[in-house]
Amino acid sequence: MKKLQLVQSLAYINGRWVSAQGGATMNVENPANGEVITSVPDMTIEDAEMAVLAADNALIEWRKTTGKQRSILLKAWFNLIVENADDLAKLLTSEQGKPYKEAYGEVIYGASFVEWFAEEAKRTYGDNIPAPMPGNRYMTIKQPVGVVTAITPWNFPVAMITRKVAPALAAGCTVIVKPGEDTPLCALAMAKLADQAGIPKGVINIVTTKQPAIVGEVLCTHPLVRKVSFTGSTAIGKRILAQASQTVKKVSMELGGNAPFIVFDDADIDKAVQGALISKYRNAGQTCVCTNRLYLHDAIYDLFMDKFTKAVSELRLGCGLIDGTEVGPLINKKAIDKVSSIVEHALTQGAELHLGGHVASFGELYFQPTILTNISEKMDIAHQELFGPVATVFRFNDEEDVIKRANDTPYGLAAYFYSRDNSRIWRVGEALEYGIIGINEGIISTEVAPFGGIKESGNGREGSKYGIEDYLEIKYLCLGIDV
Ligand code: SIN
Repeated sequence: MKKLQLVQSLAYINGRWVSAQGGATMNVENPANGEVITSVPDMTIEDAEMAVLAADNALIEWRKTTGKQRSILLKAWFNLIVENADDLAKLLTSEQGKPYKEAYGEVIYGASFVEWFAEEAKRTYGDNIPAPMPGNRYMTIKQPVGVVTAITPWNFPVAMITRKVAPALAAGCTVIVKPGEDTPLCALAMAKLADQAGIPKGVINIVTTKQPAIVGEVLCTHPLVRKVSFTGSTAIGKRILAQASQTVKKVSMELGGNAPFIVFDDADIDKAVQGALISKYRNAGQTCVCTNRLYLHDAIYDLFMDKFTKAVSELRLGCGLIDGTEVGPLINKKAIDKVSSIVEHALTQGAELHLGGHVASFGELYFQPTILTNISEKMDIAHQELFGPVATVFRFNDEEDVIKRANDTPYGLAAYFYSRDNSRIWRVGEALEYGIIGINEGIISTEVAPFGGIKESGNGREGSKYGIEDYLEIKYLCLGIDV
């Protein structure tokens, strides 16, 4: 690391770098080799409460700033993130494991939300509503929701912070971030840069902890918190929804997925193979929008499988800081055990091991890029979010049937399909019950389009012109005048 000051070993509350009040710490390990990078505070209830009070106090002045003032500060933060992209990417790879190239891409992607919402800060328009009565004038204004809790995951330790914090700040809210317990260092580095950018004390607070349930409960039930934004599993999302409901907080939930990837007989097979490769094995399969179920039309099954198998077998598995690595380690032992047991169980239910299938010989957190065939919806694996480098392959021969099968899940985050038939593109695009559809495209994430799911994949949208709305309240002003 060129700039060691980006590695922080203290949490960030009220503009100060602090230890846990009880003094406890936790180690942050590099999943590539198990080395301890540093330790950070293992905070608990009283620390979380202190962060809420800091955010509430900072809100008094922050909500009074103009959109333009907030925009300038966010722009300064954006510039610093981009200037430090190389350091941030190395830090990201070190604590999370994804290959450097992907980590760098994530930092730029993360920065793009800060830039986007720096611009949106100036555009929180209200309405002027024509009144039906001559003596009335009606209008709406948009105001910040208030103190926001942002609970962010380990799989995108930079971008999932900016996708929440940037719109919150742009709207005039203050934030407490609880980063994933495996990846607190990127959150702290981002806070360091926010501080350098001049974002006032208390506007961003970072609470590091390895007790997510205890700290999360404080942050999701505290009466001063007015909004909770969470990215993570559907199971934890449901718990947070219950907690937030006690004081009727506004919520945004970006939860699990079970993304189908359908290749029709009229698809461009080379493009479909590339799309499947990136959408399945990106971040070692650890994204909510990763392909989970590959549906291949009978007519192109063999051709697709030949090319796909070759491409997957050539993926280079290894430490993310080594040049040329395409798939890094999984985040921790629990993740490896889960993926291994899902694969083993699928084999007992009749799946066939086509490629990979095991922990790699050179490191206990590396799982071989894997393909399982002969999968059917009767098997448990068809209904589980894999979160690992494992492709499951189904066959189909009818459009209506594959749509029905693709929709047969409680999840509704992302879906993908490949076809060159215009009518089919519209039919299938409209019929798939998902919030995001990749059509002839395996990478769908961008700051300019709305990211989010339906059904048990969550609610709210992040990024795009809609992203700031989740952090704003609409107030209706009714004015009586003499006419
Ligand atoms: C996620 O996995 O939650 C985010 C993926 C993305 O933004 O592309």
